[in-house]
Amino acid sequence: MSEGQTGAMSDEDAGPIGDQDTGPILPGPGGSDYERYLRTDELLSLQKTPSDWAHRDELLFQTVHQSSELWLKLAGSEATEATRLIDQDGLLAAARLLRRVVLCLRQVTEALDMLDLLDPWDYHVVRTALGHGSGFDSPGFRHLARVIPGLGTAFDHALQRTGVPLTDLYRRRSEFEPLHQLAELLTDVDERLRLWRFRHYSVVARAIGEESIGIQGTPVQVLGKLIGQRQLPKLWEVRSRLVELFEAERGAGGE
Ligand code: HEM
Repeated sequence: MSEGQTGAMSDEDAGPIGDQDTGPILPGPGGSDYERYLRTDELLSLQKTPSDWAHRDELLFQTVHQSSELWLKLAGSEATEATRLIDQDGLLAAARLLRRVVLCLRQVTEALDMLDLLDPWDYHVVRTALGHGSGFDSPGFRHLARVIPGLGTAFDHALQRTGVPLTDLYRRRSEFEPLHQLAELLTDVDERLRLWRFRHYSVVARAIGEESIGIQGTPVQVLGKLIGQRQLPKLWEVRSRLVELFEAERGAGGE
């Protein structure tokens, strides 16, 4: 949160210059405004304490899940606002938010690397502490999965307002640059979701194997099948149409 710093600093340099009063001015618990604004007391009390651990890797497990929920919450919020902006033809503003959604999904995908360091035998002990907890009930993922099809609908309407078929948006992209950029960003979002699902599947397979059943009774293989799902199928179908169109036009040109 520090701002306005210039040049290299040593540890001794870090801190206020002169007798500037930097005491907290925000309301709430915490000895500094950093702690008060970010509510670090509350945030850092949201993980089980060592005396409550079934296994010490619960901290790793909770940290990855809780931080993922935050990134997914941000992704859902940005995707919702992007939908609103597309409906108002604010295409470039929407594109900026969609770049954030893509980065959020990258964050949660990379966070899964940490769970490769959770040994399968240790995970069984962690699992005893999860009750009926299942990723299907992830509020962040559920919200995002609900919002993304609406983004697709907003894009379809924007395309209709422009009066251009999706194939032409790609064939004559320089005429429709903002809308084309948006189409590619939505493709990125869908792709990132698939990459998350693939990576999550491989983490699950590593922890409990591919033939096991999840806590709420879902076979792990079902997660494998979900990887094939597209939230925004038209943006993928158009690529096949472009192959056909290209071939047809090349044929018509006598090549
Ligand atoms: C060792 C780590 C993990 C294991 C063993 C695991 C296991 C599973 C299993 C077995 C399922 C199927 C549903 C069930 O029966 O429970 C599932 C679904 C799911 N999990 Fe995980 N999971 C892990 C990490 C994570 C993390 C870090 C997240 C981050 C939010 C997450 C989010 C989800 C979501 C969103 C689903 C629904 C998947 C979909 O709709 O494609 N999981 N998980």
